[in-house]
Amino acid sequence: MNEIAKAAHAPQLAMRIDSRLIKALPTGALGMAMQLPAAKNVRRALLADFGIPDDIIEYVGLTAEFDTRDTERALEGSGIAVPSLEGYAAKLWDYWERNLDPDLFKDRSFEGAVNGKTVVITGASSGIGKAAAQKIAAAGGIPLLVARSLDKLEETKKEIEDEGGTAYVYSADLSDMDSIERVVGEILNEHAVVDMLVNNAGRSIRRGIALSLDRFHDFERTMQLNFFGSIKMTMSLLPHMRERRSGHVVNISSIGAQTNPPRFSAYVASKAALDAWTRVVGSELIGDGVTFTTIHMPLVKTPMIEPTKIYDAFPTITPDEAADLICEAIRSKPKTINTRLGTFGEVAYALAPKAVDQILHMAYRVFPESAASKGKKDPSEKASTEQVALAHLMRGVHW
Ligand SMILES: NC(=O)c1ccc[n+]([C@@H]2O[C@H](COP(=O)([O-])OP(=O)(O)OC[C@H]3O[C@@H](n4cnc5c(N)ncnc54)[C@H](OP(=O)(O)O)[C@@H]3O)[C@@H](O)[C@H]2O)c1
Repeated sequence: MNEIAKAAHAPQLAMRIDSRLIKALPTGALGMAMQLPAAKNVRRALLADFGIPDDIIEYVGLTAEFDTRDTERALEGSGIAVPSLEGYAAKLWDYWERNLDPDLFKDRSFEGAVNGKTVVITGASSGIGKAAAQKIAAAGGIPLLVARSLDKLEETKKEIEDEGGTAYVYSADLSDMDSIERVVGEILNEHAVVDMLVNNAGRSIRRGIALSLDRFHDFERTMQLNFFGSIKMTMSLLPHMRERRSGHVVNISSIGAQTNPPRFSAYVASKAALDAWTRVVGSELIGDGVTFTTIHMPLVKTPMIEPTKIYDAFPTITPDEAADLICEAIRSKPKTINTRLGTFGEVAYALAPKAVDQILHMAYRVFPESAASKGKKDPSEKASTEQVALAHLMRGVHW
């Protein structure tokens, strides 16, 4: 190794591609194919999903040769020998990683992503939306707070301003499409740029199908706000975002869209519709610079879950923790943000749907209809030991 040191294997260690596979292709075909614009984009997206830098592909088949002949000639008679590459390569690499890697100096913080940016947040008068608005403003962003209750929005705005931030309020009923057109018109009149949209306003209904047969409006109400309201907001802002060739939309979906909990058919279907719409539209808009993140939110302690009293004993995350997921969506713009249980639910359903149905049916029996779902109030309604145990086992799922 002191004459010609070969360091050909490092890249292959990271990505073991059987060379026979590549050799089977006509010479140059792979290289040419990878240079096609469409293939380049697929390659970039695929690597991004795995967190691998795009540039590495150029070096996958590289055989590096370190020629030491000149050095050896210069050192002749000095009594100093060229050390083996293995003896010092790690030190050089370490120095480069710590001090010279250009990626080290990029601002990847939430503040860097949101400072000075205008972010429309729906449902910002309460719960998750309010907490997210406060975090965005604290990091230097400008939240535009949208909901129906003007008094609560004003309260949020005041709290933000008291902390030194800036916010604007817009009252709108997002289950009314005319109201959305009006409010987006107002927003675009008053702000030169809208950088991001967080579709967070939503309503949940927990009622089994047996009690829903004469309540078709439950399905209409959830679709109207959770699905139509969200896509109308997005579509109203899309011309602006496409023109600027920049925009990010964060949709607050639910772990329910991955785990199919019983009694949530109206709610889960409306969130699943939003997920599907986003998956389709997301691929169409890549070229326009508009991106989407879907957050499959677990159970969060907010006014939304208050009517279901058994949830008082369930493990939940706080609105503050839920808002951190929105901040992460804004910072790193991933395609989805999931909990482990949500992903497990999705995979399990794909692999063994009948077995999953059996588990969900057990949960259907263990967790009864709430008094609220029957249009009643029952302050004595409490979770049993069995219910609490199952809720802890499947942390974050709303049963
Ligand atoms: N809490 C959970 O466990 C949980 C779990 C998974 C997903 N999520 C999702 O997270 C999002 C936020 O929920 P949250 O828990 O924070 O609930 P929340 O505290 O009840 O807040 C709901 C927000 O939506 C607004 N809103 C409701 N109807 C509206 C309408 N027609 N037009 C405009 N705004 C409307 C409400 O404001 P106004 O009443 O003032 O209009 C409020 O600001 C929802 O999309 C929900 O589905 C929640």
